[in-house]
Amino acid sequence: MTKPLPDLSQTAFTHQEIVQILSVTEPDQIESVRAAAEEVLLKECGDAVYMRGLIEASNVCRCDCHYCGIRKSNASVQRYTLGAEDIVALAQHAADVGYGSIVIQTGERQNKSFIDDLEKTILRIKQETRRDFLPQGLGITLCVGEQTEETYRRLFEAGAHRYLLRIETTNPSLFARIHPTDQIFETRVSCLLALKSIGYQVGTGVMIGLPGQTTDDLANDILFFQKLDIDMIGMGPFVPHPDTPLGNVPCGHGAERLRLGLLMIAATRLVLRDVNIAATTALQTLDPKGREKAFRFGANVVMPLMTPEGPRENYQLYPGKPFLNESAESCRIELAASITAAGRKLSLNAWGDPLHATRKS
Ligand code: 5AD
Repeated sequence: MTKPLPDLSQTAFTHQEIVQILSVTEPDQIESVRAAAEEVLLKECGDAVYMRGLIEASNVCRCDCHYCGIRKSNASVQRYTLGAEDIVALAQHAADVGYGSIVIQTGERQNKSFIDDLEKTILRIKQETRRDFLPQGLGITLCVGEQTEETYRRLFEAGAHRYLLRIETTNPSLFARIHPTDQIFETRVSCLLALKSIGYQVGTGVMIGLPGQTTDDLANDILFFQKLDIDMIGMGPFVPHPDTPLGNVPCGHGAERLRLGLLMIAATRLVLRDVNIAATTALQTLDPKGREKAFRFGANVVMPLMTPEGPRENYQLYPGKPFLNESAESCRIELAASITAAGRKLSLNAWGDPLHATRKS
């Protein structure tokens, strides 16, 4: 028997109501949730979809996460680090094609030379991507893992103003099962708090469909985003990588992880309302139309891949990464088409800050 849905027009959902939303399987109920999330998005944030050119600047990583394809003990990955010249050139290209913002993502490293180089590169990008239509240069989002508060501050002062650090799951025992013992849930929470106190717009997120994860856990994840007053969300289905300890652990059918992935976007939109939510590549790995569907379920950000083709194949956090063999140009064109197909407008030459953050300041 189909269970009744909670009132989707309310603005304060309980844990139990979020679980109810995540549990729907009937197509007409899924459509009700989708339509309600789309309505909240259009009312709160409008129909724009913001682009962030994604530069995977290095796959060297000190971590050994049990799920991740670039974990340090995966010897079949060829390690690379792009030079400052290459990163600045990619950033300039991003500005020229109208992306407005970039994301610099790397494996986690905390050594001095890595941080010094990153700081210098950020300073150069801010200088060298100024355009008439972008007087302050590109918006820069960092995704370079757990760092000290001092490092976060230096990188903020250099010009990065957004930071993504996924909590991966807010269930501490599940977190412990998918990470080595030296990675600690509380450390990640304190990093998120430090980033907020410095003044970054802060993004976090989780993997969906992890082995042993429940809808209770996922509802708690959404309430955690709310409690921490998070500005941006990036989350996607877990996709097992064969070269990792979780590569063969049963985690539910792909279609099920896709359904949950889309419902998580919709539920997050219904609860958090004015944050930015990314349509992530992991969704597209499970369904060629995954990103387009994500827009229709409440996502409003997309990250077109800009990493050059050689290194790109060595940045596979999970197998089946989309756009692996396509040029940055065709990636851009395909994403623009999926935005239009979802009835939305591509926003160019804008930082595209989350309203949730700009309303606070
Ligand atoms: N499946 C899905 N997402 C993954 N990530 C890493 N490995 C996987 C995987 N196997 C995600 C993590 C990380 C982000 C950069 O990529 O959530 O924070």
